[in-house]
Amino acid sequence: HEEFTKVKNIATIELGRYEIETWYFSPFPPEYNDSLRLYFCEFCLNFMKRKEQLQRHMRKCDLKHPPGDEIYRSGTLSMFEVDGKKNKVYGQNLCYLAKLFLDHKTLYYDVDLFLFYVLCECDDRGCHMVGYFSKEKHSEESYNLACILTLPPYQRKGYGKFLIAFSYELSKKEGKVGTPERPLSDLGLLSYRGYWTRVLLDILKKHKSNISIKELSDMTAIKAEDILTTLQTLDLIQYRKGQHAICADPKVLDRHLKAAGRGGLEVDVSKLIWTPYK
Ligand code: COA
Ligand code: NA
Repeated sequence: HEEFTKVKNIATIELGRYEIETWYFSPFPPEYNDSLRLYFCEFCLNFMKRKEQLQRHMRKCDLKHPPGDEIYRSGTLSMFEVDGKKNKVYGQNLCYLAKLFLDHKTLYYDVDLFLFYVLCECDDRGCHMVGYFSKEKHSEESYNLACILTLPPYQRKGYGKFLIAFSYELSKKEGKVGTPERPLSDLGLLSYRGYWTRVLLDILKKHKSNISIKELSDMTAIKAEDILTTLQTLDLIQYRKGQHAICADPKVLDRHLKAAGRGGLEVDVSKLIWTPYK
């Protein structure tokens, strides 16, 4: 694809109270390509070339949160589910914004086919987006996540792992296993590896041995292949007589858990009010 090799066009964006330096090219409509900076409405994600336009827009825009259903609220954190078919412009704006921080993903112009899960920190001024993930309404490959982004001012605070955990909680409610769409970026892979390691090793610690990959997959909604590669990478799989056995030595598990970093923010499933898309 042409857009992979294109030179970064927009250098910075303004979004809510942040000025953010961009990372990559994003294919904004041509009339925006002569601007180095774009001004985003943090609620409807419309973007403008001039600050005065944004100021005028903010006086008219009556959104104070993403245009969708609030499906999770815990403390000041809320998750909104936005249907790309019902909110096409919002979905497209979100994709333009996200591509500024995604290297190798193609943009989904067909936002109809996706749901967007937008995570917000809420205060008395409204719900401020910290990140999101997208999900195909129907995936034949059992993808439970297409794109994931934590906006740079919010990175390394555990939101990425929260979004990943959330995607698996939705899969559990659907009674399906899931896996992220490939390829993953370096940061995406690091985040997933950290999440998978923590979830799987916490279970192995409790169950000692005698648990199969199938059982781990049923408990976590993590696809069996992802479980196998995670455990193989940690050198926890042994082959005996053509069967694999999982090593569950507590000392070894604790060492890996320490190296896997912090747990991130917990998803409190009792606060998730959601039924699968039909
Ligand atoms: N350097 C080294 N490790 C990093 C890192 C960095 N800059 N950013 C994340 N990690 C690793 C760490 O292991 C981290 O865990 P720790 O903080 O406990 O050590 C783990 O990934 C996840 O951190 P977390 O704070 O939960 O994630 P995040 O909110 O920073 O979001 C992404 C992670 C991938 C969503 C974010 O980096 C992002 O949006 N990147 C740009 C878009 C992208 O690449 N998306 C993935 C496409 S497949
Ligand atoms: Na973190």
